[in-house]
Amino acid sequence: MKHVQTVVREAAPAGPGVRRLVLADPDGWPLPKAKPGAHIDLYLPGGLVRAYSLCGDPAQADRYVVAVKRETAGRGGSAFVHDALAVGDALGVSLPRCTLPLAPDAAEHVFVAGGIGVTPFLPMALAAERAGTPWRLHLLHRDAPPLPDALAPLVETGRAVLHDTARAPRPALASLLGPAAPGRHAYCCGPAGMIADFEAATTDWPAGAAHVEHFVPPPLAPDPAACPFTLVLARSGREAALPAGAPLLPAIRALGAAVEASCEGGICGACRVRWLEGPPLHRDRVLSPAERERDLMACVAGCAGPRLVLDL
Ligand code: FES
Repeated sequence: MKHVQTVVREAAPAGPGVRRLVLADPDGWPLPKAKPGAHIDLYLPGGLVRAYSLCGDPAQADRYVVAVKRETAGRGGSAFVHDALAVGDALGVSLPRCTLPLAPDAAEHVFVAGGIGVTPFLPMALAAERAGTPWRLHLLHRDAPPLPDALAPLVETGRAVLHDTARAPRPALASLLGPAAPGRHAYCCGPAGMIADFEAATTDWPAGAAHVEHFVPPPLAPDPAACPFTLVLARSGREAALPAGAPLLPAIRALGAAVEASCEGGICGACRVRWLEGPPLHRDRVLSPAERERDLMACVAGCAGPRLVLDL
């Protein structure tokens, strides 16, 4: 597993309940490159691993910028970032992963965000601007928006529009997105209710034209297609007999292989593993149909056959 050691260079409030961190290499070297829309895991005390979208300028190779919203119902990760993490502290992070890339063939991008869900769209909007691809950002928020300094220049251009739902009725997402059109790609990052509305508003759009990023893993029901199977790790030759629906991650680790994990709910892309024999049951929200022909997300995948062979 490749980790990156960083140091906190800046930490400052950035909107209500939000703390913005600038992380850098301790010696000032460029950090591993990140695509616009990528996120990183922060490795926090107590074994907590938390994913945050990068929200800085992707052209600035010497820093990762994240914005952390305080979650009062969380398990302490955001509270640590807000209350204990200080400028000068060391912080391990993962390599960047991008599960919400800009569609390379898009003629137009429409971004819809809820609150702190705006973070991945800030670098994506900058990249679209530099590529000369038209874009529009709609941010739905209550009262003051997050990251006001980063948003202000985008709002000034007229391409980013803020919708304060504390002062005006919440707009219908279909009206913000407009109809499906050749080359138009739509993206959504926000709470579960907003993503459900977005998926309903884009149900008639062409396959691959609507993209979402979840905040929290959606609940997963047991899959009736799951059956008992033998898990085989091809490189070590180790194997284990597992009951139907058994989680893969602990089984893989018990067989001595290391697989990274973050969300453990199929939304972050950390635990991607190549499969060689299946068929696997895919229950993640990150892999495309073409990617599923080759890879699975070990935190939520299962098996619909007698053997699952992984390239581990
Ligand atoms: S740990 Fe996030 S997708 Fe598996």
